[in-house]
Amino acid sequence: MTTQQTLLQIDTSARLEGSYSRRLTQAFVKAWLAEAESDDRQLIYRDIGKTPVPAIDGIWAAAYEMEPELRTAEMLGAIALSDELLDELFAADCYVFGVPMYNLTIPATLKAYLDQVVRRDRTLEFISGKPQGRLKGKKALVITTRKFNYREGTEAAARNFLEPYLKAILKIMGIEEVTFVVADQLAAEDEVKEASLAQAEADLLELARYW
Ligand SMILES: Cc1cc2nc3c(=O)[nH]c(=O)nc-3n(C[C@H](O)[C@H](O)[C@H](O)COP(=O)(O)O)c2cc1C
Repeated sequence: MTTQQTLLQIDTSARLEGSYSRRLTQAFVKAWLAEAESDDRQLIYRDIGKTPVPAIDGIWAAAYEMEPELRTAEMLGAIALSDELLDELFAADCYVFGVPMYNLTIPATLKAYLDQVVRRDRTLEFISGKPQGRLKGKKALVITTRKFNYREGTEAAARNFLEPYLKAILKIMGIEEVTFVVADQLAAEDEVKEASLAQAEADLLELARYW
């Protein structure tokens, strides 16, 4: 019996040309799709670097607080895109995010996206008053690029708010299996930069074989 696997790829780099994170997400997805043997693999693609989702506003926040059946037409309009993004998230079994580091953390476009999809009524369920993420059992791969080196053991590691933040928010959504692949030192001399990109790409191609 063939099983179906749907991957949602989300690119977030503001750069549409010359982006390393886009290059790496593309390499991974191509390899992952080519690995399909006994299962049927599908791709959903969303580019929030090219087409950012809006920041939430007051009506959105009012809809968030309101019981779903009491929402006004205006509130429903404000969360229509959020509902569409959530349908896409639930339709996928796994996620690949391409995430450049901007000012020590994720791009604002990705934060706007996350604000749209973390919803009390859809992403979370409350069991004995405690929020549980409804995207349980799904997994995420985060491919992240940056100019400098923030790896554990470096002095800069304490200024890295990207991996800790993403890990925490994805866990709240129920996604506990999160793999990070980092291409860093992209501001270094060519030899160091190319080695970092080559290592990230090799790790991704290896991962595509069993992920
Ligand atoms: C607005 C902005 C902020 C950035 N902040 C950081 C940073 O805090 N640390 C870092 O190492 N690189 C930083 N960078 C560099 C990017 O992370 C790096 O160029 C990365 O390759 C961008 O991903 P991309 O190639 O997919 O566009 C920043 C770049 C931009 C445009």
